[in-house]
Amino acid sequence: MRVAKIVVASCLLLSGFKAVAQKPADVKMNNYIRNLMAKMTLDEKIGQLNLPSIGFDVTGPILSKGVEEKIQKGQVGGVFNTYTPNAVRKLQELALTKTRLKIPLLFGYDVIHGHRTIFPIPLGLSATWDMPLIQKTARAAAVEATADGLNWVFSPMVDIARDPRWGRVSEGAGEDTWLGMQIARAMVTGYQGSDLRRQDAVLACVKHFALYGASEAGRDYNVVDMSERRMMETYLPPYKAAIDAGAATVMSSFNEINGVPAAANRWLLTDLLRKQWGFNGMVATDYTAVMELVNHGVGDSAEVARKSLYAGNDMDMVSELFLTTLKQSVTEKKLDVAVIDLACRRVLEAKYRLGLFDDPYRNISTARAEKELMNTEKLALAKEAALKSIVLLKNDSSALPLKAGRKIAFVGPMVKDQRNLIGNWSGAGDWKKAVSLWSALQAQYPENKFTYAKGCNLLDDEALISKLNPHGAEIALDAKSPSDLIKEAVDHAKDADVVVAFLGEPFGMSGEAASRSDIGLPLNQQNLLKALRSTGKPVILVLMNGRPLILQWEHDNMAAIVETWYAGTRAGDAIADVLFGKYNPSGKLTMTFPRNVGQIPIYYSAKNTGRPMSNEKYTSKYLDVLNTPLYPFGHGLSYSKFTYGDIVLNKIAIKANDKLQATINVRNNGEWAGEETVQLYIRDMTGSVTRPLKELKGFQKVMLKPGESRDVTFTLSAADLKFYDINMKYTTEPGDYKLFIGGSSADVKETEFKLM
Ligand code: BGC
Repeated sequence: MRVAKIVVASCLLLSGFKAVAQKPADVKMNNYIRNLMAKMTLDEKIGQLNLPSIGFDVTGPILSKGVEEKIQKGQVGGVFNTYTPNAVRKLQELALTKTRLKIPLLFGYDVIHGHRTIFPIPLGLSATWDMPLIQKTARAAAVEATADGLNWVFSPMVDIARDPRWGRVSEGAGEDTWLGMQIARAMVTGYQGSDLRRQDAVLACVKHFALYGASEAGRDYNVVDMSERRMMETYLPPYKAAIDAGAATVMSSFNEINGVPAAANRWLLTDLLRKQWGFNGMVATDYTAVMELVNHGVGDSAEVARKSLYAGNDMDMVSELFLTTLKQSVTEKKLDVAVIDLACRRVLEAKYRLGLFDDPYRNISTARAEKELMNTEKLALAKEAALKSIVLLKNDSSALPLKAGRKIAFVGPMVKDQRNLIGNWSGAGDWKKAVSLWSALQAQYPENKFTYAKGCNLLDDEALISKLNPHGAEIALDAKSPSDLIKEAVDHAKDADVVVAFLGEPFGMSGEAASRSDIGLPLNQQNLLKALRSTGKPVILVLMNGRPLILQWEHDNMAAIVETWYAGTRAGDAIADVLFGKYNPSGKLTMTFPRNVGQIPIYYSAKNTGRPMSNEKYTSKYLDVLNTPLYPFGHGLSYSKFTYGDIVLNKIAIKANDKLQATINVRNNGEWAGEETVQLYIRDMTGSVTRPLKELKGFQKVMLKPGESRDVTFTLSAADLKFYDINMKYTTEPGDYKLFIGGSSADVKETEFKLM
């Protein structure tokens, strides 16, 4: 009964989200599923709700046992963690030949940033600010995944994240709601295509619903306690955007929300998701999340299974508590069979939408796999994505680009590394096929005067290594001592014109269950950098990592800093092209880089206070660090210099149904052709509730030759100014606005207009 109370209270709170009309019922599908379900026993229905993991890799504490046997007994609705045409065919055959009703299986997998061809991690992809490109990477991933037997991907992850201590910031699109919405749409459209029945379309799965990115203190799986306003304004819109783009499935999250775990939260999964947002697809839990409800303190195994199903989950990922307890709950009259029917129907609908009942194998064959997996076209796309994801954070006195004829000392354990380039969640990716920086350099500059020294181990911290190695990190300590490694690198540096140090986080230091309280470079790597710096040679720091790092010392001491994330299969080629100027870097940060950990959470769309920072004592600031970040949202340099004219508005006041045009002249004043991402922000100066200092509302990418200039025009409609007012109504309010345009959130031209 407590659940019912929570539901009612929360519904009232969230009345701001308008109910969306249900899509017209698909009569044919309904008839088909009704007939099928009429033949199903209760056991068979419960079987459809079971989603075991089958093998290949371990993403959690439990691998479901005896899956093949369970498939034959009709106790499995879908599986994940298996692929290849042969493996999938074998299991699908079991379902189609050994079970009474021959219901085909779903085959899911964590296809997160590419399947076999690996693109940059999602945080890196978001730094491209290139929606058509992001969509293409999702399409390419879907083509590969389907050729490999899959029909369901656990992506996109659209959790807004503002705490870089959380390792999973690497899997999302950063801190901004508006940008996150665009990326959510692009990914869903890319995965699902225009018709789910096509053999190269997969079901997308929006995750982790909801608010997982707000885990307290950046500690994974931790509680979320959040105001209704913040949910509505900041965290929920990207999930909604993905659903409006047609996402067929949703994954509920591990975290609790204001005291009720998402996996048992009926307000979240039924009232908000289905009733208010009109979502009519299927919801799966996250890995063992049903079982974990016992730890949350929700009840015993049988009770948590009931609560989680009733909340609106349809498939139980790995826990197998639906399988083992629901029937008993029905017998004991603790659960209405209609709740099971509803979930079963949704699972069957997902299968129907994919066309699985007509074509359960979807043309999977080794021939198709050979044609599609890692073909030339996809490898070219991987390079393009890698190039565009790289962000030039700092570049003093044109330290970059490098000149190939010079003596360059390449230093650092990442230079020859392949293992880390494809990053986290690249389960089907083969790191041995990833191009290292060193091999790209040798291929491109065979006559070079480059030297290499490892300089340090990836990590020296044995306690940390022992946590990472069981999960595939393969970090080994060099036979040489740390001081010998440094000495060797310093000798190389002394002999060179310039030093390039390639350092960062081994991939296991970001991603799931990889929260860090200190987000600097590992200490042994910092020691190496200090030694290199002391040679007096210019040092260029190239970074490979999955989150904003603390880089204040590096910023103060390095000649240039290049952020490459985990750039994927073609990482080395792309990094070489950026370093030597074959590609002029164009990536822009989608997450703020703090000056120190104490500033977290820090994000550009913060609000003012009554006492904005100044030199006065009683103002909102720290005694020991500035309020500003080291690198703000939207920041990213180019080898060119872009200069902005003043903003010209076509009117200074608009009415509620008007559009405003803002034009700015952008000039390339440098010597390199380059692409700039021109960003538009607004500030609502007065509202019935306080508004952020800046909110991103648009961007355009412009390619400019040296000396070329272009007028860039944005059209803003009054609807773009909507927000949740004091009554939580999504509306506009007349008043004064500021409008900013520039190359980063902290470097903008500014003007004003009125909404009448
Ligand atoms: C992660 C999900 C992932 C699932 C299946 C979980 O641990 O939170 O993002 O999709 O495992 O591998």
